[in-house]
Amino acid sequence: MTDKKPQNYRAMEKDIHTDFKQDMSYADYLQLDKVLSAQTPLSGQHDEMLFIIIHQSSELWIKLAGHEISKALTCIQQEDFGPAFKVIARVKHIFVQLTQSWQILSTLTPADYLKFRDDLGHSSGFQSYGYRKLEFLLGNKNAAMLKVHAHDKAVHQELSDTLNQKSLYDETIHLLARQGFNIDKEMLNRDVSQPYQANQSVLEAWIEVYKQCDKYFELYELAEKLVDIEDAFQQWRFKHMYTVQRIIGNKHGTGGSSGVGFLKKALDMSFFPELLDVRTHL
Ligand code: HEM
Repeated sequence: MTDKKPQNYRAMEKDIHTDFKQDMSYADYLQLDKVLSAQTPLSGQHDEMLFIIIHQSSELWIKLAGHEISKALTCIQQEDFGPAFKVIARVKHIFVQLTQSWQILSTLTPADYLKFRDDLGHSSGFQSYGYRKLEFLLGNKNAAMLKVHAHDKAVHQELSDTLNQKSLYDETIHLLARQGFNIDKEMLNRDVSQPYQANQSVLEAWIEVYKQCDKYFELYELAEKLVDIEDAFQQWRFKHMYTVQRIIGNKHGTGGSSGVGFLKKALDMSFFPELLDVRTHL
């Protein structure tokens, strides 16, 4: 009777560490005191917590994506393809994960959102500096986007530095030139802070790579990995736009834009336009 083992119970093991007076704990390492105390709803409405956490967790994933793309940039400069492919593939999965998270946000109804929308003031994801940095790193350059960060010198500087450095696609085009493709000089000397304009010599290089993929296998694999990122990124943009439409219809955004109409325009942009074009020419 007495030696009966309890059911539905997992006993502690004797070697499990339990004393963290001196040792670094899980919470210490991850600074969970900061991370988990950074959710401060303003409205007292139940659903605001979801709204805050989905933004904060997205910001963390976006930060990681930026970290990985910075590594990819260096790897491509050094023609170190294996590690470049690895981190680019990771970014694709980050975006698949982020796109999935719109499902959770879709449980927020228009009525739920309206209960706390006014408390957000003019704050909006449009002011996400992590997201803007990632767009710049990938190649969607737009100096006008810096304006909303003028109040924060450090952030403004970081974004301005990223705007003025070669993007992942600029680095890839330099790589094409180094590998012997005849890329127009003006593409190699372009002002990289300006929006990227599709170019015939770049398109012709990609046509060559795709037609002789065995010969140019690394460039071919790189190109397809870039298309993976663009694809995953566009899915995120689409789900964002559609979720926004589902929640606020055609109302203006808290950031002041026309809302869904403004977000739809982003769907017409491409980080790597010739890589989509090349399909037509094969
Ligand atoms: C109820 C949920 C949401 C609504 C209603 C919403 C609405 C909007 C709107 C209307 C814009 C355009 C700018 C403006 O006028 O505000 C925008 C931009 C943006 N939002 Fe959201 N959003 C939501 C959730 C999110 C989440 C969870 C993220 C994740 C970080 C996010 C990130 C962004 C980003 C990065 C932009 C800038 C996009 C660009 O420049 O193309 N949003 N949002």
